[in-house]
Amino acid sequence: MILIQFTGLSGSGKTTLAKNVEHLLVKKGHKVEIVDGDIYRKTLCKDLGFSKDDRCENVRRLFSVGKDFVQSEVIVLMSVINPYEDLRNEISQHNFVKTVFVDCSIDNLIKRDPKGLYKQALLPDNDHNKIKNFTGISDVYEVPLKADLTLKTDLESELISTNKLYSFIMNNLSNRV
Ligand code: ADX
Repeated sequence: MILIQFTGLSGSGKTTLAKNVEHLLVKKGHKVEIVDGDIYRKTLCKDLGFSKDDRCENVRRLFSVGKDFVQSEVIVLMSVINPYEDLRNEISQHNFVKTVFVDCSIDNLIKRDPKGLYKQALLPDNDHNKIKNFTGISDVYEVPLKADLTLKTDLESELISTNKLYSFIMNNLSNRV
């Protein structure tokens, strides 16, 4: 079985790609669960903010949710920024975990900015709408050194990235829990 631990900046395409491959996998008869940071931050992780400790706790809780799904033969797509190399490496010690880096340049993310969050992160310090500690702007994102797959979403089409991810999952499905 497989749990994909995504890593990548906000807006890089993690959730979009997860939804696209979910659709393809379900069509083939697989059970799939997307464990999405944006969603769990409203429920299980609603007490957490964006300090280093809180981000690590967030990822740990989501991994714990994902592990339970994996044990019931569900393919898990864990869609979170997951910015720290040490924590990613700790999680990837499990042989059913694969790390997928969704790579998009910060310049492109600022241009795309579908949720308007980069604009808010780049506001002057005295603006009360400014988002502080925003990953890639005013908070750290450690580029993964050992990703199992890298998808460059600003250089290739959504369809190409989706197909690469789908093939990668199909080729790695049989790892034991
Ligand atoms: S993680 O760092 O703990 O892995 P997670 O993926 O759960 O982050 O949440 C990231 C999402 O929270 C972003 O896509 C964005 O919608 C929102 N967000 C709000 N504030 C921040 C912030 N300071 N840094 C990054 N994302 C933020």
